[in-house]
Amino acid sequence: MKQRSIFLVVSITSLVFIIFVIFFALFDAPIKFPIMAPSDNSFKLTELPATTSGAPFSLLIGILTRPNNFDRRHFLRLVYGIQSSPVAEVEVKFVFCSVTNPEQKIFLALEILRFNDIIILNCTENMNYGKTYTYFSSLPDILPRRFDYVMKADDDVYIRLPQLVSSLQPQPRQDLYYGFALPCTSMNPHEGYMSGMGFVLSWDLVDWIAKSEIPKNDIFGPEDKLVGRWLNAGNKARNRFTSKPAMYDYPGTNGRCSHELVPYTVAVHRLKRWDQWLHVLEFFNVTKDLNQSKLYNL
Ligand SMILES: *[C@@H]1O[C@H](CO)[C@@H](O)[C@H](O)[C@H]1NC(C)=O
Ligand SMILES: *[C@@H]1O[C@H](CO)[C@@H](O)[C@H](O)[C@H]1NC(C)=O
Ligand SMILES: *[C@@H]1O[C@H](CO)[C@@H](O)[C@H](O)[C@H]1NC(C)=O
Repeated sequence: MKQRSIFLVVSITSLVFIIFVIFFALFDAPIKFPIMAPSDNSFKLTELPATTSGAPFSLLIGILTRPNNFDRRHFLRLVYGIQSSPVAEVEVKFVFCSVTNPEQKIFLALEILRFNDIIILNCTENMNYGKTYTYFSSLPDILPRRFDYVMKADDDVYIRLPQLVSSLQPQPRQDLYYGFALPCTSMNPHEGYMSGMGFVLSWDLVDWIAKSEIPKNDIFGPEDKLVGRWLNAGNKARNRFTSKPAMYDYPGTNGRCSHELVPYTVAVHRLKRWDQWLHVLEFFNVTKDLNQSKLYNL
């Protein structure tokens, strides 16, 4: 008798549970179990179109830098602010870890109010301790839109946006890993990895980094090398492209990764000093569109 009533209670409970599940499945009501990862947000983002203007594709460039590098950041705003291309929607953002210094907080707040080009991640500033991982893995959750491609760039690299965008246009939009293949003399993007000076991942790979356990368990070390290791371990990025010799280190700064400035340049890296930046700006005629005016005499 006692066993029968326990059986009855169990069956009724299961029945109620099954009806409950069917009800929610039919009406697509959001069932929030605590074990569910907050991935439904990024899933929706991934379903959205990656362009809003009718341009063929979109690109987010995140320049990983530090709050203290004011001069460099303002300079880069100028350098990228005067470049554009009809071939892609390009957004350039400066990427930091959490800011605790009260002065930096105010300055960054001013910059955000004026330029709205800053991303502050939940991490502590570091090299080789996972900032690049935090950058890519956070994006699907924190961005209001998705992009076809996401780039990670250094703050000592000069990127020519029209040339970058033209070289990306014919590339696949999926499963793409683009950049400057290392080691220096390698022309094979399928061995080694792309230099941290600036490399591009297609959105599906950014999404994969956010969700996969492979990067999550391998975040300490040289960050550009790690990205290559994750993609290899996950059997990802079947499409790879090295932009050599259009990407390189500034002449004389890094052995065989360096060569002379060339007209078809996509990116020049290791620009540490102002005289190097000036040389590059002059070589590429960056200020040639300036008109005569009575207001100045340059
Ligand atoms: C930031 O990261 C830390 C450590 O991973 C975590 O404990 C904390 O909840 C995170 N904060 C936010 C706002 O996501
Ligand atoms: C810069 O301008 C000079 C003079 O007009 C020209 O000869 C040179 O090819 C230009 N350089 C580039 C990289 O376009
Ligand atoms: C220079 O003048 C030309 C002709 O008036 C104009 O089309 C162009 O936009 C001006 N360039 C700049 C940078 O103001």
